[in-house]
Amino acid sequence: MNRKDFLAQVGLGAAALLVPACIGGLASCSKSSNNAPTNVDFTLDVGTGSLATNGGYLIHSGVLVARTTSGTFLAVSAACTHEGTNVNYNAGGNNFICPNHGAQFSNTGAVTKGPASKGLSQYKTTLTGTSLRVYS
Ligand code: FES
Repeated sequence: MNRKDFLAQVGLGAAALLVPACIGGLASCSKSSNNAPTNVDFTLDVGTGSLATNGGYLIHSGVLVARTTSGTFLAVSAACTHEGTNVNYNAGGNNFICPNHGAQFSNTGAVTKGPASKGLSQYKTTLTGTSLRVYS
């Protein structure tokens, strides 16, 4: 076997190993993202900053925390389930919109417009004074 034949066989062998791994595990070939934080438990001071104003929001530890126009709080995973871009809170529509390809999610994180096909994870919130606990 000459060098050219050897490289052709090695190259084909490597490609043959890679293709079934991708076909067998389609999820690993997909661009979809599922990076929702787990075991979430943190506290924010909503007396100052963007959460002090109705309609404001921020992202902390991968969680988007929003204050609705009526003053209640929402918390969902920030990364769009399509390709991982952080979504924005749309106070006017009380929903979440991905700036990358336009996916939209309800105020509970459910998909209302693709291309995302999986919802955002929702987290609980409890307000005590100006201290907002966000948790799984
Ligand atoms: S990354 Fe959000 S719609 Fe594509």
